[in-house]
Amino acid sequence: MKLSVIGCGYLGAVHASAMAELGHEVVGIDVDAAKIEQLAAGTPPFFEPGLPEILTSAGASGRLRFSTEMAAVAESTVHFVAVGTPQMRDSHAADMRYVDAAIDALIPFLKEGDLVVGKSTVPVGTAARLAKKIADSGSGAMLAWNPEFLREGFAVKDTIEPDRLVYGVADERAASVLDEVYATALGTGTPRIITDYATAELVKVSANAFLATKISFINAMAEIAEVTGADVGQLADALGHDARIGRRFLNAGVGFGGGCLPKDIRAFTARAEELGRGESVAFLKEVDSINMRQRQRVVDLAVEALGGSVNHKRVAVLGVTFKPESDDVRDSPALDVAVQLKGLGAQVIATDPQGIENARGRHPQLDYTESVDEALAGADLVVLATEWKQFRELDPAWAATLVSGQTVIDGRNVLDAAAWRAAGWTYRGMGRP
Ligand code: UDX
Repeated sequence: MKLSVIGCGYLGAVHASAMAELGHEVVGIDVDAAKIEQLAAGTPPFFEPGLPEILTSAGASGRLRFSTEMAAVAESTVHFVAVGTPQMRDSHAADMRYVDAAIDALIPFLKEGDLVVGKSTVPVGTAARLAKKIADSGSGAMLAWNPEFLREGFAVKDTIEPDRLVYGVADERAASVLDEVYATALGTGTPRIITDYATAELVKVSANAFLATKISFINAMAEIAEVTGADVGQLADALGHDARIGRRFLNAGVGFGGGCLPKDIRAFTARAEELGRGESVAFLKEVDSINMRQRQRVVDLAVEALGGSVNHKRVAVLGVTFKPESDDVRDSPALDVAVQLKGLGAQVIATDPQGIENARGRHPQLDYTESVDEALAGADLVVLATEWKQFRELDPAWAATLVSGQTVIDGRNVLDAAAWRAAGWTYRGMGRP
């Protein structure tokens, strides 16, 4: 099939490459010429395992090209809209400017029978509004809403082998076009839910709201564990054996961040308030504040560990990305902790296998190093903030030879507390005794 993908950010670049990898002929469109140039050269402008490989192979096959010109979509019959919906500067609502601009720019090129497919995460009600816009244009094109559930670090796999497909459609014909697009995944038995626009939009935001709630739930339990001497890790293991609860997304620590969970729960709350149903999701404000409290907790633990003040103390922060296998520092708890410690007068030296460039761009006031040993050298305190393998596997005896003070705060509860203590460290986890 001939497909276009409008918006070649994280979601769009992965989607375009994955669709070409599956055999479709794809053109990726973005207004950012530098981004298009990089993608066309086979080098993604962000870190994502497996993406360079499929970008190169799809590009070499001639099935994938990139352009800054919307006119390049003219031959495509299915047009995915994958532009960003960031949080607005002065409110928690989603900024819909890019989605509207993409649809407005696309409309003049739509033909009878074309399918426009919304992928961006949007406030419920958006698809119906855009469907009207498209219908009013008289192009004869249809609209479907087909949310994306990919996780950074697993984006290629999640796109090629999704765990479910959700189609929000107003017309059966749209569903059959999507069946053709996703024939490979459907052929392996991927479940698909065909529904209306509003349900499809809500699946996405409620999935992220649920995941965020699960993380904040266990972090709330960590707070209780901390004052009772209980161990939140064992608690999560025991809870997780109940198949109704499940063990995944029950890791307590410095909390969730990234480009989706935090902004999506805030935008969902804002949208529910607009709809006069703010009370229905009022608990998400609590989910958000439990989450933000974990960052503060790590900072408080650091202050306590250094005898009441971090001023002029050297703190090694291991990790700046919001999670491992990503270079993304958007709303990163790790970077937030580093910045807060710096604000309190600490000399922060942060290290990360992938995120330094992005972190430096946002927070040039911090010191960065690519070497873990260099970060640890002379540190009065070590804070593990992102659970990269390199940090999880750090040898406590070796680390002890580098630092000035042997205290570690394990913001992700991933270190072997007993081994670190045996090597002479004072170990503090999050809700661990
Ligand atoms: C998320 C959703 O998982 C994905 O389905 C959606 O499409 C986009 O948002 P992503 O932002 O890539 O994906 O990250 P995810 O793996 O969900 O992690 C989000 C945050 O939660 C990270 O900061 C992670 O460290 C944190 N987290 C996750 C926890 O603190 N504890 C956990 O148990 C799991």
